[in-house]
Amino acid sequence: MRDWLKSLGHEYIVTDDKEGPSSEFQKHIKDADVLISTPFHPTYLTKEIMDTAKNLKIAVTAGVGSDHVDLNAANERKITVAEVTGSNVVSVAEHVVMTILTLVRNYQPSHEMITSGNWQVSNVARDCFDLEGKVVGTIGAGRIGYRVLQRLKPFDCKELLYYDYAELPAEANKAVGARRVEDLNEFLSQCDVITVNAPLHEGTRNLINKDTLKHVKKGAWIVNTARGAICNAEDIAAAVQSGQISGYGGDVWNVQPAPKDHPWRDMQGPRGRGNNMTPHMSGTSLDAQARYAAGTKEILDNFFHGKPQTPANVIVENGQYATKAYGQRK
Ligand code: NAI
Repeated sequence: MRDWLKSLGHEYIVTDDKEGPSSEFQKHIKDADVLISTPFHPTYLTKEIMDTAKNLKIAVTAGVGSDHVDLNAANERKITVAEVTGSNVVSVAEHVVMTILTLVRNYQPSHEMITSGNWQVSNVARDCFDLEGKVVGTIGAGRIGYRVLQRLKPFDCKELLYYDYAELPAEANKAVGARRVEDLNEFLSQCDVITVNAPLHEGTRNLINKDTLKHVKKGAWIVNTARGAICNAEDIAAAVQSGQISGYGGDVWNVQPAPKDHPWRDMQGPRGRGNNMTPHMSGTSLDAQARYAAGTKEILDNFFHGKPQTPANVIVENGQYATKAYGQRK
């Protein structure tokens, strides 16, 4: 990226010093025409920072998920927000399946038993189940949610469910055989495993909280690789700790980096089970990085040459949400 941008005569500043008014980011954003950021260690582009960014024309998310940008404020200022749609959806789907399996099979405490020099099989086997025969449901059956369903198909789950605004196209659903449940609470009450694969917007913020958790089956597992703020941190930690749910896993936190005292860092269920959290890394495998770097370059090339962006990559443009935009029904 650096050589390419230099060859076009642009100045390219790279920094991870982002906090506070004297940070490199806040110093340089005042002159920048373009901001590139990732969701993994996000640069929060707030209204206040946009007020200082008088030249900013486009904010590119190198990855998928642009909720770290105040999208309404970007619209007011006619700043384009674009992301590299589809670039890391397989990477995330693989991580979801891994997290489901490691939770259901109680992998983490079993591994820790070995590294701490112990061998008490019954202590870990009592929280270990098969995925076969379980009901697994996804909140959001878009690019990632659908890929999760595809990958779960061979596990012979009792049933695959989805909760989404949109019905899956008939042909796509034929391949996975998932049943749509239109009411959230009904959906939650039927799943042994719930995976969250919807964007963060006004309609999904705090969607899983102490009230909706009441509808979740006792002992279910929840996996969230979408956005941390979709699940209420304190309510999830309390449900894991009390054993109301058997575990929670994923890689997304509200906010990132997660503060040292974030309740998901050290929550634990009975017998040390139920915490399969990682830092936000599912969508940034090296394979994914190559794809979203190429996609970022393409977005910039379109911008520099006044060419239209690929519609699926556009989140907001010309003061409006694009069709794919967050919270809007497709
Ligand atoms: P997508 O746009 O293809 O699919 C999202 C689906 O969620 C759509 O079918 C939409 O109708 C549905 N949806 C939206 N609001 C909903 C609601 N209130 N209830 C139920 N369904 C709803 O997006 P994609 O590519 O599948 O990504 C989903 C999210 O995953 C991203 O927005 C991002 O936040 C997150 N993500 C996380 C990554 C990671 O590294 N952990 C990497 C990539 C994406």
